[in-house]
Parts: sequence; C-alpha cells; structure tokens
Amino acid sequence: MSEDMRYLTFALGKGRLAQKTLALLEEIGITCEEMKDKDSRKLIFVNEELKLKFFLAKGPDVPTYVEYGAADIGVVGKDTLLEEEKRAYEVLDLGFGKCRMCVCGPASAKELLQHHEMIRVASKYPKIAKDYFYNKKHQTVDIIKLNGSVELGPIVGLSDVIVDIVETGSTLKENGLEVLEEICPISARMIVNQVSMKMEAERIKKLIADLKERL
Ligand code: PRP
Repeated sequence: MSEDMRYLTFALGKGRLAQKTLALLEEIGITCEEMKDKDSRKLIFVNEELKLKFFLAKGPDVPTYVEYGAADIGVVGKDTLLEEEKRAYEVLDLGFGKCRMCVCGPASAKELLQHHEMIRVASKYPKIAKDYFYNKKHQTVDIIKLNGSVELGPIVGLSDVIVDIVETGSTLKENGLEVLEEICPISARMIVNQVSMKMEAERIKKLIADLKERL
C-alpha cells in the first residue's frame, strides 16, 4: 500500500447487517479485528494496512453519510434506500437480509384494499407506503408514521393496516395479522458516494468485483 493512499470509509448499518457484511468482507481478505469486540463502545475502527475505516450507524443514517461523502461506501437495506431517497450509486445486491415489504393487517382488512376506501396505514416507512398507495394503487389513504413495533397499529385500533417488512412472518402470526399485499422484495445493498466512485474508481471497482465473485 502506498503511503499517500487515502482511507476508504465504510458506513455499516448497526446490527445483523453489519455482522454479515463483516463476514463477507472477511471472505475477500478484508478484516477488522477491532470491530469484532462486541463490548466495545468505539464508533470507528481502522485497518491501517489496507487503509480502510469502518463505522457503525443507525440504518436510516447510512445513506446520509454516503451522500455527503463522510463515508465512501455504505451497506444498508433496500427498505432504507427506498425510504431515504438519498443520492448515491447502488452498486451491489449483497443477497442477505432478505425480506419483503408488505401491506399487512387482519384478514378482515383485505376488502378495504379492494375498493379504494379511505383507510389508515401505520408505518415506519411513510414514503414507501405513500408511493405504493398513491402511485401504484391510486388509493387515497391516511399515513401514520410510527418508529417501531408497527404491528400494534391494527391491534390497538390506530390503523386499519400497516406497511412493514416481513422476514419469517412470525411477528405477524403471533399477533393475528397476515400479509395482505406484497410491495417489493428487500435485501442488503452496497452503495457508493458519487464522487468517491470517480476518485477512487480503481479500489472500489476491485472491491465490487471481488465481492461479486463471492455472491
Ligand atoms: C422487524 C419488522 C417486523 C419484524 C418482521 O422489526 O418491523 O416487526 O422485524 O420479522 P419476522 O417476519 O421475522 O417476524 P424489528 O425487529 O426490526 O423491530 P421494530 O418492530 O421495533 O422495528
């Protein structure tokens, strides 16, 4: 590695996605020992040898760091990319973190989706919900933003349905809800800052090519 090479910075969405990303990077010879210590409260980790930096952020903040160039590369769910609409190149579907964005609710709510009725939709993803109902279904709805445990919406009578991610479906099942309509498939994506893609083209293209071989 040449001395004047600049650091490439990765922003990883905290949690399972970050762990899976690190495991995948390890397969192509990129390791970050410091980051494996789960008890550490450190936010930034460095691989001096490869001139790489890694930091963990809340998922929805990852596209923001990448858009502004505070990170060159980000790994985040497609759900977050659709919701945040930030400027960055989406370069790779990493194939993990697979789930589906769905409209869910009690079985009885199914007919509310068929007659363009004015219904209430609770979601952590108001943009995705709005785009689906207004632009795809042409149904006028009232969208209520929640920050988690969205399944509560129809149970406590806040909303008729929810728009949320479904992985195994067990959260829905345990709460007497079901998938009513599918919006789109979701998985982890790698994104790249638009300037970094030009300035660091060689290193980033090599990284993408190496990862592609493993997918
Ligand atoms: C997500 C999602 C569902 C659940 C789906 O929630 O919002 O609630 O996982 O997974 P399942 O189909 O395998 O049951 P998360 O755990 O991220 O927490 P949150 O509800 O607080 O957003």
